[in-house]
Amino acid sequence: MIERQKQAKFRKPISEHTRKAFDAFSRVADAFSGNTIVDACCGVGESTVALSKQYPDCLVVGIDKSIVRLEKNPFYHGTSTGQCAKAVKNVFLLRADLADFWRLLSESNHKKAIKRQYILYPNPYPKKTQLVKRWYASPIMKYIISTHMNIECRSNWLIYLKEFQQALSVYGIDSVITVIDSQPLTPFERKYMLSGQDCWKLETVV
Ligand SMILES: C[S@@+](CC[C@H](N)C(=O)[O-])C[C@H]1O[C@@H](n2cnc3c(N)ncnc32)[C@H](O)[C@@H]1O
Repeated sequence: MIERQKQAKFRKPISEHTRKAFDAFSRVADAFSGNTIVDACCGVGESTVALSKQYPDCLVVGIDKSIVRLEKNPFYHGTSTGQCAKAVKNVFLLRADLADFWRLLSESNHKKAIKRQYILYPNPYPKKTQLVKRWYASPIMKYIISTHMNIECRSNWLIYLKEFQQALSVYGIDSVITVIDSQPLTPFERKYMLSGQDCWKLETVV
């Protein structure tokens, strides 16, 4: 299945709001002199702000499709149409559909500035029938990898990460999975840890 998705062309047209979001990102990235860190599925953007301190010389772009979540972050400066207009220091929170954003990013010059991509607690889509919605089993995976192979994905569902690891191996990329023993980086991570669950991270070996 992963092999089939690797070859498949993704033909869905790019949504207008994500094209505008990408244009906004291009303007901010052009004006920024450092490298870029991608925080995909950032939710309320707590991890984006934390990563901006970890990478003070990089632009950290947090992307989520939910405006309700993004608006909870004081660093989010959306316009009346819901589009983000500016970065605050090195934090840029953006409302976009990643299925489209990754396609645009992987085909743009901006990918040269990307250093690492975080995918923290993506929706697991646990039912078998939803498999193709998981990033690693979707036709978007090849665009994620083409954007940058330096990836960290976190989940409380070890099977998700093991399957992510298998999908990466189809692309010839090695990765390691370890249990997280540091302070929570995101609200979902905090919630899982407080309920006594283990949280895991997969990191590519690049
Ligand atoms: C389980 S939440 C995790 C949020 C955050 N990373 C955390 O750990 O607290 C998953 C997030 O992925 C976002 N998401 C899911 N599919 C997306 C897509 N296609 N484009 C952008 N964001 C998406 C959802 O809106 C949601 O905020």
